[in-house]
Amino acid sequence: MNIFELHEGMPRQGPGLNEVTGEAFGVVEEELKDGAIILDIGCGSGMQTLELARLSERIGATVVGMDVHEAFLRDVLRRKAEQGVGDRLGIVRGSMTAMPFLDGSVDLIWSEGAIFIAGFEHGLRSWRPLLKENGMMVISELNWLTDERPEEVLEFWKPMGIEVDTVEKNLEIVINAGYDLLGSFPLENKGWWQDYYTPMEKRMKELKEIHAGDPDSMPLIEGMLKEIELFRRYGGSYGYQFYIIQKTSN
Ligand SMILES: C[S@@+](CC[C@H](N)C(=O)[O-])C[C@H]1O[C@@H](n2cnc3c(N)ncnc32)[C@H](O)[C@@H]1O
Repeated sequence: MNIFELHEGMPRQGPGLNEVTGEAFGVVEEELKDGAIILDIGCGSGMQTLELARLSERIGATVVGMDVHEAFLRDVLRRKAEQGVGDRLGIVRGSMTAMPFLDGSVDLIWSEGAIFIAGFEHGLRSWRPLLKENGMMVISELNWLTDERPEEVLEFWKPMGIEVDTVEKNLEIVINAGYDLLGSFPLENKGWWQDYYTPMEKRMKELKEIHAGDPDSMPLIEGMLKEIELFRRYGGSYGYQFYIIQKTSN
């Protein structure tokens, strides 16, 4: 079992909430023209991709979910059929670090809980050329939210190479990478639990029994349970922040 398989069959693969996807979409909606192209990078099994497709139906936008893991993309298609989402939702398998799209082809890039894979600054800079003039981006990223830096959390993230900045620092990176800020807000606590940690915790407990003694799977399962436990204890000091930004004209 690998980290992708660990997340298969889950409602979503990272923190987020449909209401919050809707809140962020509300900020950019007015500026989206009929027939807009929306690209959801690192879409996973597509909870927010499907929500975007529903929200943007009115303007006849096309939503493309992109991910590297095929099983998640199959889930997007299955859910699309189950939920009766229209034909303006497609999928592409590809990597966010070698984007299979033309420059100037996208009106809105969306990416919830995934830009860290490319690196926040690298993602902002390397995806920017894909945007049309005045194109926009909605991303969520892990940030420190208070001055507290719990030692246990730092020790947990260290081997994974996860480096977390403050919101203030990320806003500086946004501006320097050639974007204007349209809005920014934190993801509420419920967004971590309802569709992500609560079902994941249940699944990890089941997998722990199934994979007991398996030296490949157990560290991943235990790691996920530890991550959830750390959030339960220290969650207030870090969390996801949404950034709603627009490409500057130069
Ligand atoms: C934390 S999950 C977030 C998924 C989804 N956006 C959500 O909020 O539920 C990160 C996603 O990025 C995908 N991913 C990992 N590496 C990738 C890459 N190089 N290119 C594209 N997607 C990638 C994973 O398969 C996973 O679906």
